[in-house]
Amino acid sequence: MSLFRCEQVNKSYQGQPVIRDITLTLAQGELVGLLGASGVGKTTLMSILAGVDRPDSGRVLLKGEDITGVAGRVGYMLQKDLLLPFKTTLDNVSLPLILKGMKKSKAREQATELMERFGLSGSENKYPHQLSGGMRQRAALLRTHFSGNRVILLDEPFSALDALTKSELHRWYLDVSAQMGLTTLFITHDMDEALTLSDRIYVMTGIPGEIQTQLAISAPRPRPADFAVSQEFLQAKRQLLDAIGR
Ligand SMILES: Nc1ncnc2c1ncn2[C@@H]1O[C@H](COP(=O)(O)OP(=O)(O)OP(=O)(O)O)[C@@H](O)[C@H]1O
Ligand SMILES: [Mg+2]
Repeated sequence: MSLFRCEQVNKSYQGQPVIRDITLTLAQGELVGLLGASGVGKTTLMSILAGVDRPDSGRVLLKGEDITGVAGRVGYMLQKDLLLPFKTTLDNVSLPLILKGMKKSKAREQATELMERFGLSGSENKYPHQLSGGMRQRAALLRTHFSGNRVILLDEPFSALDALTKSELHRWYLDVSAQMGLTTLFITHDMDEALTLSDRIYVMTGIPGEIQTQLAISAPRPRPADFAVSQEFLQAKRQLLDAIGR
């Protein structure tokens, strides 16, 4: 049985259908990419999966429980997940715990325990503008982790980073998500990123956006350095290009 799924989700804005009949599943521990062009409805779908928006029809299930329209059950990192500029890194990442009712000292303690794993030790008392882009993103990921359980929805988590920081963060996220047993759905419009990270890739196309196809990548994660020139990579990329071109 899938850990997380949505079934036949539809959504319109002002009478205009934006996404149609979206069904997708996440199995425990999977890292799944959602690939599609700008405007295809990826963020709309994600906000429904996170429960911050309601579908017109269809439902969202976590371990078989209907959580349609219920926020806070899964972690959700927005496309522009800005850290609060006037709060320190430690206070930013522990905020979701405090919002859940945990005492501030306890929340800080829990956050401190994970700062190292998230490459943030020593930055506890720094403010967001004092962090590098990669560090800010890791802080936002840690905050997301604290906001939900171990199902994590990420809206373009790596897109604003330079190429080197991006591949560093890819490797790091593969590591952390395996260690912590996270199940992740991430949005991207970067095919290479999708192919590098994903166990499976859903491709969304059209207006309204629909799941055009899905693709499994069998090479184990983390993938070898030469994966990007391997037969599997190139074949899969061809399939993605065909799917998006259609
Ligand atoms: N709150 C809203 N009200 C009205 N229209 C909206 C709203 N949110 C999104 N839309 C429309 O829905 C469509 C899909 O938007 P969405 O943000 O989901 O796309 P996206 O795939 O995430 O794009 P991008 O890759 O640029 O982030 C767009 O045409 C957008 O204008
Ligand atoms: Mg978007």
